[in-house]
Formats: sequence, structure tokens, C-alpha cells
Amino acid sequence: MTASGRRLVMLTIVLISVSIASAQDFKKQVIYQIITDRFVNGSTANDNPSQSAGLFDSTMTNWHLYWGGDLTGIQQKLSYLKGMGVTAIWISPPVDNLNLNVPDNSGNPTAPYHGYSARDFKRIEEHYGDSANAWTEFDALVTAAHQNGIKVIVDFAANHSNPESAGEFGSLYDNGTFVAAYNNDPNGVFHHNPDVSDFNDRYQLQYYSIFSLADLNQENATVDAYLKAALLQLQQHGVDGFRMDAVKHVTWGWEYGEVNSIFNNGPSFVFGEWLEGGTGDTLYHDSYKFANKSGMSLLDYPLYTAVKDVFANSNSFTEIDTTLTSENSNFLWPNDLVTFVDNHDQARLLSTNNNTNRLNEATAFILTCRGIPIIYYGDEQYLHNDTNGGGDPYNRPWMSSFSTTTTGYQLVAKLAALRQSNPALAYGSSQQRWINSDVYIYERKFFNDVVLTAINKSDTTSYSIGGLLTALPAGTYSDYLGGLMGGMSITVNSGGGNNPVNTFNLLAHTVAVWQNTSTAATPEVGSIGPTVGQLGVKVTIAGKGFGSATGSVLFGSTAATINSWSDTGVTFTVPAVGNAIYNVQLKNSSGTAANTIQFTVLTAKLVSVTFTVNNASPTNVGDYIFLTGNTVELGNWGTAFDTAVGPMLTPNYPNWFINSSMPAGTTIQFKFIKIASNGTVTWEGGSNHTYTVPTSGTGFVTVNWQN
Ligand code: NOJ
Ligand code: NOJ
Repeated sequence: MTASGRRLVMLTIVLISVSIASAQDFKKQVIYQIITDRFVNGSTANDNPSQSAGLFDSTMTNWHLYWGGDLTGIQQKLSYLKGMGVTAIWISPPVDNLNLNVPDNSGNPTAPYHGYSARDFKRIEEHYGDSANAWTEFDALVTAAHQNGIKVIVDFAANHSNPESAGEFGSLYDNGTFVAAYNNDPNGVFHHNPDVSDFNDRYQLQYYSIFSLADLNQENATVDAYLKAALLQLQQHGVDGFRMDAVKHVTWGWEYGEVNSIFNNGPSFVFGEWLEGGTGDTLYHDSYKFANKSGMSLLDYPLYTAVKDVFANSNSFTEIDTTLTSENSNFLWPNDLVTFVDNHDQARLLSTNNNTNRLNEATAFILTCRGIPIIYYGDEQYLHNDTNGGGDPYNRPWMSSFSTTTTGYQLVAKLAALRQSNPALAYGSSQQRWINSDVYIYERKFFNDVVLTAINKSDTTSYSIGGLLTALPAGTYSDYLGGLMGGMSITVNSGGGNNPVNTFNLLAHTVAVWQNTSTAATPEVGSIGPTVGQLGVKVTIAGKGFGSATGSVLFGSTAATINSWSDTGVTFTVPAVGNAIYNVQLKNSSGTAANTIQFTVLTAKLVSVTFTVNNASPTNVGDYIFLTGNTVELGNWGTAFDTAVGPMLTPNYPNWFINSSMPAGTTIQFKFIKIASNGTVTWEGGSNHTYTVPTSGTGFVTVNWQN
């Protein structure tokens, strides 16, 4: 073989190992959210398919009908997206939707153009693909996206099928075979409850309906198997990640097993939509407990609220700063939170405040602050429609321009490149360095890689920035954005790590980014994914300076089997070790240790189990019953909110129940405890309860509280 031939082979090996190593590490990605129906009409053949005729509006005047966008259309714009540095797309739920018109309250026709009214999770919607509901166009999109270095994230709505009491009455099909309808449900495929009215009631949230959509009963073994098989099928069609719809409304315990099932199938990245207003939300603690323990990351709604308040409105940057401080201490994996400025459920920033500088500044912020950023389609083109304040559906206009010269497009491209080249953005810590109401200067730092970003959002006022300290080494730094947003260079003096920056002027509407990368002297670990799994699950550790020769990954003294090794990523399978939370230790081939990173080894693959304890009556309002027991899934006899399973639910007080995911085929020991509102823990008496978790399907166990 010639030297250049050898180089080509080497390069190919490197490229393959890089793509494998990064499969579960989404921290370097920039996600672009597409409402498939509103993006590009790639094929007019699927505009008005016969099985759902009449739901298409070629005039694009009825905002509740299909307008013609499809999977082929997305495929046509992959080079536009690639040019913007986008490395992942999140598309609307692609599965077969309700076929019938459900008129709104004024009698106007409506259709599920958005994709959130499934009828068959195992076929592709005819308006997006073809009239056979086949996978052809979906597969073509995935293949083309991957060829362009773009991962595909599918929106998956496990909570519901379609409207309960109109159209197809919730009808659910399994690859064309009828399963059940809301009004024809002998086997309990659906929950039959009213719509949620109290959004702080954990029972209502999980067991009631939202928007009168037929609420799937995930504890039913048929539904459990169906949804997991649908996810597997999507993974077999090349899907790289999932945006889980409405996770606060799906049964929480079941979702632990849903994520586990995805990770058993292969590498993926999973993030859920847990709608909340901020870190003061009543269920905020439930939200981060869920993210920390289930292995599913979340869309960062608390930060979204702060971003909107600060950039679209006049709130001070302290709101962003305090939100980040809280979340970074509550979430175990803050760099996995998925951040956004706009989405399809909220009025666009430009509808709230038609100030393109502010949108650019907010975009620069989410691309440099911790978390994985999403760009909502059209933000880079300043797309907005302000009818009725610009909320749903006016936040989903037709994508009318694809200019590559807007500041927004170029801003994303530059910062997407920085996410690839400087690991501080993907893996770094976050530190506020200078703040006032209009100015936020913050630093991301991963070992000796540093990114310092300064934003002045004021329309009029420039500020003299004195006393700024940074971890950037002494030297002069030009603006990484090349002045795109008015940035300038700074001079840093030495100061032992808190290095003083010469005073400079930050003009109104400026974003400046200064950065430095270094060579790793020892291996530096920045990411593990998934964060939870049992023997045999494939895991990726990513970072820097691992070296090219294979080293080791240790769970205590047990070494995992390494599947691939590169300087920036290692894949391995979870070894046979006891169930526990581990500080996993990577060592390079010379035995030099990296920083450790946390991973939870489960006892076995997870199966849905619903526990009921009768007659467990706490004496005071605010007391809750929890479940605890002898494996990591049960909290290892933990008695705290964050370790035990719960709080349990009590629609039939004094009986309490909780759905959970437990290790298949394992005989578990457990007890119920009361955690009083003042924190006092009371154990039930007697000996431990025991139960053998089924190896498949779903389990149920009912006991009496032992006095
Ligand atoms: C949240 C989605 O983002 C929203 O658009 C949808 O209508 C509901 N979930 C129901 O699926
Ligand atoms: C401590 C509790 O006090 C007890 O009730 C329970 O049975 C054990 N943990 C578990 O073996």
C-alpha cells in the first residue's frame, strides 16, 4: 500500500472511531428544531394524500392545517444546515397521525400538522413521507443527514394517541392492526380520566389527559411493549436521539425503563420536555430528581424562562445567573441540559420584542453557556408572525428564506465551530465573572481550556468593564466572532489563575468571545453517556488527552471491556459488578488516571412495576409515603426524597401507590416509609416485603402497611 493509501485507511479508521465515540455524547452538538410541515415542501405528491384528504391548505391561511412541508424538503436543506454548523436536527413526531378533521370550537377544520396526534407509532405519516405510510423518505433523510454529519432526533409522544372524543377517538394501530380506541378499550390501553386541572398534582399529571388526547396507560403490558418496540424500530432506522414529549404527563416510573430500553438497544441521547416556569416551581425538585436518576436529560425550561425575561424583556442578568447557579448545583449533568431561546410552544422572542440584536444576543448566550443548544427553525432568518402575540400556532410560520448571510446564520456557524474546537463549551464549568443588569460576562472552563463571553444587551448604554478577572492566560485575545457582534480584543495580565483584564469599553449590543485551548497533560474526562445502565449496556466517555493507545476504564477494581478508544472518546460495555453508584475511573495506556465521573450500575434491565401499600395513613398534610429497598433502583434503603422512590400517590387515601422501574427477574426486598413534612422518617414495622420482578411485561404488587 502506498503512503497516501495508508493515510487514507488511517483517516477512515479515525473518522469511524470518532463517530462511534461521539454517538452518546451530545454535548458538542448544535440542534436545529424543525416543524416538518412548515419547513420545505420537497414533494407535492404527498400534499393531500387520499387517506386523509382535505387536511391540506395550499394557501397557507388556515394555520391549523397541513401546509406541505415534508421529510424530502428537510433533506433538500441539509447543506444549508451544515453550513450553519448544525450537527443534529430535531424533527416533528414523524409517525402516522390522525387522519380526520377535528373542527375547532368555531367549526374551522384542524389537522395534526404538528405531529402530536399519533394513530400508529410504527408507520410514517403520509403527509411527511408517502401514501403507503412507508419508511422510504424517512430512511433517505436519515442517510443524507448522516452523510452531512448531522444526527437525527425524533420527537416521541408516548403520553397519548389522538383526541379522545372526536375524529378517530384515540384509535391506536400497531403497524396497521387496530389495538384499541378510547371508546373501545376492553383491555385498559388508555386511562379514562378528565383533563389535568391541577398542574401541581403528581397523580393528575401522570394519570389524567392533556388537551383531551387519549392518555396511554404505560403500565399495561401491551402499551409498554408497543411503545418500546416503536422506539427500537426508530433506532433501527438510524435515529440518534429522542426528544420525549410531555414527560411530566407520562408515568414517571415507567419512563426510567423507557430510557433503559433505548440504551439496551444501542447508543442514543434522550431529553424530555418537563414544562416548568423556573427553579421556584413546585415540582422543580421532582424534575431534577427525575433527570438525575432516570438517565433522561431535560429541556432547560427554567433557563428558558430567564432567557426570555432577560433578553426579550427588561429583567436583569441576575435572573439568568441565579437560575444557572441553582440548576448547576441541583442537576448532576447540567452540561446535558438542552437549552433554547424559542420553540413551537412559546411566542418567538421577536414576537415579544422585535429587536434582532436581542435575538442574536440570546442565541450567542445559549451557544456559549452550559447545555446543548437548540436553534428553533427560522430564528437565524428572524422569522416571526405576531398574530395574537405570536403564540401557537403563529410561532410556526412557513420558513420563507434561507439566506446564508444573515448575522444570525453566521453567528451560529462560528459558535458551532467553537463548540467543536474548544471543549470548555461542551464540558466546562460555569462561572460568572462580571455582572450588572445589562452586562453578563461568564467563563466556561474545562481544565486549561477557557471560553470567556461578554454580552451587553443594552440598546443605548456602554459600560466600562474594570476589575474583570479570567482564567485565560496572560496575553492579548482577539474576538473569536471577528467583530460580528461588535466584539473587540482584550489584554490579560498574569495573576495566578484569576488574571486581571485591562479595563475596556463594552458598547451597547455587543457580544464578544475570547478563548484559549491547551494540550492536555493527563487524560481529562468531560462526559459519560448514558449515565445509568446494567451489565452489557454500551457507554461512551468523552473528553481529551486519552491518547491513541488503549487504556482502561475501571468500576472499582473491575475493568470494563473497551470497544473503541481514541484521544477524545472511549466506548465500553458496563462490566459485571454489583449494582451501585460508581465513580468511574479512566486511565490512559501508561496508567495515568483522569478525573472520575459518576455512573449508576443497575441490577438488571428494567421492568415496570407498580407498588401499592394499603392503609398507610400519615397523620399530617404534607407527609408522604415513599418506597425504599435493597437495590440501587430502590435507593439502597435510602430515606431521603432524592434516594427513595416517590413520593407515592394517593388518589384512594389511605392507600398509596407508585409506578417504578425495577430489575427484571430479581427478588427484591422493600419497605415503605413515611417522610413527614418536617423531614422525620418513620419506617413501617415487621420484616421486609419481598417480590420477584417479572422478566418481561409489567408487574404489580400490593401489600398492607405493617404496623
Ligand atoms: C408538548 C408539545 O411540545 C406540544 O406542542 C404538544 O401540543 C403537546 N406536548 C402535546 O403533545
Ligand atoms: C432499616 C429499617 O429500619 C428496617 O425496618 C429495614 O427492614 C431494614 N433497614 C432493611 O433491612
